[in-house]
This record gives sequence, C-alpha cells and structure tokens, in this order.
Amino acid sequence: MSEILETEVSADHGRRLRAPEESTPVLDVDDLVVEHRNRTTGEVFRAVDGVSLRIDAGESVAVVGESGSGKTTLAMAATGLGVRGSGDIQLLGHSLASIGRRQLRELRPEVQVVFQDPHGSLDPRQSVRSGLRELRGLQRERTSWIDDDGLLDRVRLTPDMLDRYPHQLSGGQAQRVCIARALLMRPRLIVADEPTSGLDVSVQADVLKLLQETQASTGAALLMISHDLAVVRSVCDSVHVMFRGKVVESGPCETVFKNPTNEYTRELLDAMPGARWRARR
Ligand SMILES: Nc1ncnc2c1ncn2[C@@H]1O[C@H](COP(=O)(O)OP(=O)(O)O)[C@@H](O)[C@H]1O
Ligand SMILES: [Mg+2]
Repeated sequence: MSEILETEVSADHGRRLRAPEESTPVLDVDDLVVEHRNRTTGEVFRAVDGVSLRIDAGESVAVVGESGSGKTTLAMAATGLGVRGSGDIQLLGHSLASIGRRQLRELRPEVQVVFQDPHGSLDPRQSVRSGLRELRGLQRERTSWIDDDGLLDRVRLTPDMLDRYPHQLSGGQAQRVCIARALLMRPRLIVADEPTSGLDVSVQADVLKLLQETQASTGAALLMISHDLAVVRSVCDSVHVMFRGKVVESGPCETVFKNPTNEYTRELLDAMPGARWRARR
C-alpha cells in the first residue's frame, strides 16, 4: 500500500461515510444521460447519451473525442461535480442519487480535477502558499500528511514558488501547482480534463509524467480526458471513444488504437492529433 493511502487509513476515523471495500470500483457509471435545455428555444440537447464506464483504484481510463462530443459533461456529471444526469452513478460505492448533500460534500475531496487552464484554476490574488494554507484550513484531516515544501518537492517545484502569485508562474509551473493542490487532498480519483492542452509543447510531456507518477504513488484512479491520442496512449490503460454524446468504442488502449473496430473510431483516430504514430506502427 502506498505511503499516502496508509496515512489515509489512519486518519480516516472522523469520516461518516463507510470506507469502500478494496474491490469496489472508484467510479461505476451505468447508462448516464445528461441533457441540456436551450433556454431560448426550449430545445433539449443530449450531451451525454447512455454512457457506461468503470474505473478501479489505480487504473487510468481515458475518454477521447472531438471537441463538443460530451467529454467534460460526462466527467462532471459522473463525479457529481455540478452537472446532473440520470442513470446509476456509484462513486466509491455510494450511489450519487441516494446520498444527501452532506455526504456528497464528504465525498467531494475524494475527486480532484485538474483543468486545462491552470491559471484560470488559481486565484490570482493568492500566493501559492496562501492558497495551500486555505486548503489546509478547509480540510485539516486530509491535508496533514505532507508539508508545503515536501508537496512542492513531489511535483518538482522549488520552495521559492510558494511566495509567487499565479501571474509569476509559467503555464507548466501553474499546472504543477494545480496538481500539487489536487495531490494534497489525497483523492481516490483524479480527473484531468485536457491537462496539457493549454501548455507549451516543451512542458507537456513533463506534466503528463508528473500526473502518471502522482497516480502511481497515491494509488488513485485517473480519468483522463483528451483529444490527443499520443497523450492517452502514453498514460492510460483503457480508452472510451466518444462521438456526439455516445461511447462508440471502448477497450484497452493498445487494442482500440491498433485495431479499431468501429468505422467512426477509425476516422476519428486518423483525424486526431497524435494519429501519426498509428501510421508508423
Ligand atoms: N451548460 C450547458 N448548457 C448547454 N449546452 C452545454 C452546456 N455544457 C455543454 N454543453 C454542450 O454540450 C456539448 C458537449 O460539451 P462538452 O461536454 O463541453 O464537450 P467536450 O468536453 O467533449 O468538448 C456541446 O455541444 C456543448 O455546447
Ligand atoms: Mg471539454
């Protein structure tokens, strides 16, 4: 068991939700449907249309698809983060439909999201240090496992970063701070929504590696959303391909990328960034 999970077990006593069994999936979504209603026309639009997916502890699962295919909506609804849908969603063994608001609040820290735009995720008025201090104040039990220096060290940032404000950080550094903040919570699920799309190409690989290491060292599960197949292939075990709200193909990355069975998947794969290596194999 990893260092972090051991700390977590010993710090778990104050929680009101029962701890999940080891075999319980971190996330188990069955037939999720999310509809958006256009306020002007009243028209209903299905952003997510009958999607099922399961993520186990330590597993990394990708959702790929062109822009607008419903990836972000799926991730936000599946994790109870502000988007509501129908279908059965089990987060750490708890049905999102049947738990109350307080319990949902207790579950929230278990899911940490790293967004595309790291600067947009950080408060411009807060130094890195005061942002971390605030998180610690809000979640004392969860955040006591590591000090600020140790945390920055884990994401390979130097202690002088603590006194910087977001505008004094490069995109890569800001994303590392976002990953550090997510890591501080010892989540069981990390959702990374296009985590490298807003970064310079030169730092993308580094940030991905960090996410991978973070996941491996914490035993957390990773839900990686991306339109970049090279990213997905280097980081994830399995992939779901989304098209217009539906999952059109799923399976281990190697299988889906090498031998896509769905005609649309093939077209999508060829049109996507990262398709080059498919031709090279
Ligand atoms: N709050 C919302 N209200 C109305 N339509 C939305 C809302 N959020 C997303 N959509 C629409 O749902 C579709 C899927 O969006 P999104 O999940 O952001 O796709 P992706 O992340 O794959 O780019 C898009 O057509 C988008 O315009
Ligand atoms: Mg999106």
